Amino acid sequence: MRPKFYLTTPIYYANSRPHVGSAYTTIVCDAIARYKRMCGFDVAYLTGTDEHGVNIERAAEKLGISPRELVDRNVPIFHELWKLLDIRFTHFVRTTSVEHARAVQTLVRRTIRRAANGGHIYKGKYEGRYCIHDNLYVSDTSEPADCPTCGRPAELISEENYFFRLSAFQERLLKLYRERPEFVQPDFRRNEVVSFVESGLKDLSISRKAIKWGIPWPGDEQHVFYVWYDALTSYMTGIGFGEGEQGSAEYQRFWPADLHMIGKEIIRFHAVYWPAFLMAAELPLPKQIFAHGWLLFEQEKMSKSRGNVAYAEPIVRVLGNDALRYYLLRDVVFGQDGNFSRDALVTRYNSDLANGLGNLASRTLTMIEKYFAGKIPVLADQGFAGSEAPVASAAKGAISQAPEFLDQYAFSRALEIIWGAVAEVDRFLTNEKPWVLAEAPAQKERLGHVLYVAAEALRIVTVLAHPVIPASTQKIWEQLGLSGRVEQQQIDQLVWGQLKPGASIGKSEAIFPRVQKDETIERIETMDNELRQPPAPTVAAAAPAAAPAHITIDDFAKVEMRVGQVKSAERVAGADKLLKVMVDIGTEVRQIVAGIAEVYQPDLLVGRKVVVVVNLQPRKLRGVESNGMIVAASVPPDGKPVLAGFLEDVPVGSRLK
Ligand code: MSP
Repeated sequence: MRPKFYLTTPIYYANSRPHVGSAYTTIVCDAIARYKRMCGFDVAYLTGTDEHGVNIERAAEKLGISPRELVDRNVPIFHELWKLLDIRFTHFVRTTSVEHARAVQTLVRRTIRRAANGGHIYKGKYEGRYCIHDNLYVSDTSEPADCPTCGRPAELISEENYFFRLSAFQERLLKLYRERPEFVQPDFRRNEVVSFVESGLKDLSISRKAIKWGIPWPGDEQHVFYVWYDALTSYMTGIGFGEGEQGSAEYQRFWPADLHMIGKEIIRFHAVYWPAFLMAAELPLPKQIFAHGWLLFEQEKMSKSRGNVAYAEPIVRVLGNDALRYYLLRDVVFGQDGNFSRDALVTRYNSDLANGLGNLASRTLTMIEKYFAGKIPVLADQGFAGSEAPVASAAKGAISQAPEFLDQYAFSRALEIIWGAVAEVDRFLTNEKPWVLAEAPAQKERLGHVLYVAAEALRIVTVLAHPVIPASTQKIWEQLGLSGRVEQQQIDQLVWGQLKPGASIGKSEAIFPRVQKDETIERIETMDNELRQPPAPTVAAAAPAAAPAHITIDDFAKVEMRVGQVKSAERVAGADKLLKVMVDIGTEVRQIVAGIAEVYQPDLLVGRKVVVVVNLQPRKLRGVESNGMIVAASVPPDGKPVLAGFLEDVPVGSRLK
């Protein structure tokens, strides 16, 4: 029987659309799941949605709908995104499912039944500060306190609750961290957890009276479970805990989890509370909790509540899913915080994917097509044999080291070593100049040797990179004429030199077309802005194709256009087309980002009168806030902007009708 591997993402709050930050953990886990499958594991991969708690209740209230309606509306958005990102999870758990409620109640009953000496669960008075945005107990006193995660003031709560006797587990937890250092990773996070536990553990309130939206406490329906007890249990529910006395057959096979992958802000819940809950219920503990860092955007944690979010969908639509996956896993040192930047994303795409792997595949395959009628040539064993040594050694190095790095979740290092092999083949081709060898018939054998080496290296790279960039490696695989699917390859048993000479290659097509940076970033940004503000601005004339043939005068009246005067203008760093313009519109001076830098010099604009749409939704371009739009004609054929203006002098602030 194949060995099993069970991994989980956190289950995400279903109160809003997932952003790149939330997609990050899911993508990471998908790469791990694919890698483990390619190592021969029978993988269960669980993700899901956390649908109870005050933040869901409040979000629903704001929209004037019930919490149930809100989560039912949002959960499909998660499914769609995971589909777009080709996430191969095997289990999806919703905390509002009946199976889950049954599992949570089963766990608490089991705990009550097993607890000796008065029990690990008791009723008591709780008073403390609680952050409703992060569902975090901020302090156990009534003193005012701010949430350490979001910085907002925490609310005072006081009620009669069920408590979990966490204090009884301090020694057992410390023993766990001591005896199984791999339980919390990376090491520096374990040290934080150990210090926290050593400083003393207070009992934990695990039920709520004030909240309605939750799982009822068995036998005391006035209470619902506190979200973390509820949420953590979902890791077991999703695979069938609570189905009968022993749980389902799947639960029997897959529990305990091999890996709970989480973001660093929820480590305490996972590395302290969760093992204690399980110890109290006498259930096996997960093998590892791995806490990764945050994706930062505009210097802060990317998060909906801070408003600094970027979404995955625009990136996938513009550059493809593999571009996003590669960027996140290559640029961020896994475990540490990393900066998300569209500039870096596009730079990586062009250098590593378009010019790197994509170019290697296309030139190797095109030459095999051209010089060998599309048949894999032969690796020579005399004369120039040996010239491939640096490539073979880079490929062999990648074969042995990439899996080692992947085993440690050191994605950027694994990719670095794989792309090191890509660079080595590029150097080899540049030195050997197959296009020159092709001119001399006597060099045919050497030409074949060179192209075999390149194609074989390409095969190795394709298999090794597959967990991270699954779709494009499958395409390259087919272009190499190889049968089956890359995912069926045993990644930890790759051997150099297995490509079969004489086999026909497939049809070669560009995998990663090179893109123009500014234009690509602008496209991504525009789509992002639309997702951020669901009622998309309809007046920006950004999508003339969608404009109806006629609008009413009332429709037109919604657009408030006024005469403005430019006070100052400067270029937006890193964007060739954008100017940041300060415009006086009569009542105030507005900051507007305008795509006119290629035509208008900033200092020549000062004093000029322009037409401004003043009631356009504010949005950010390249991270710079734009509060309105300067109207310009888009002149064919290339859409060059020409500013609208007046022949007569018009006072600043006049309205256009
Ligand atoms: N529902 C809880 C988790 C319960 S698990 C039993 C929760 N949900 S969440 O929607 O806030 O998602 C948290 C997870 O999303 C983080 O732990 C992390 O994995 C991921 N991320 C959300 N924003 C992120 C970044 N900006 N950067 C990296 N990961 C981020 O907490």
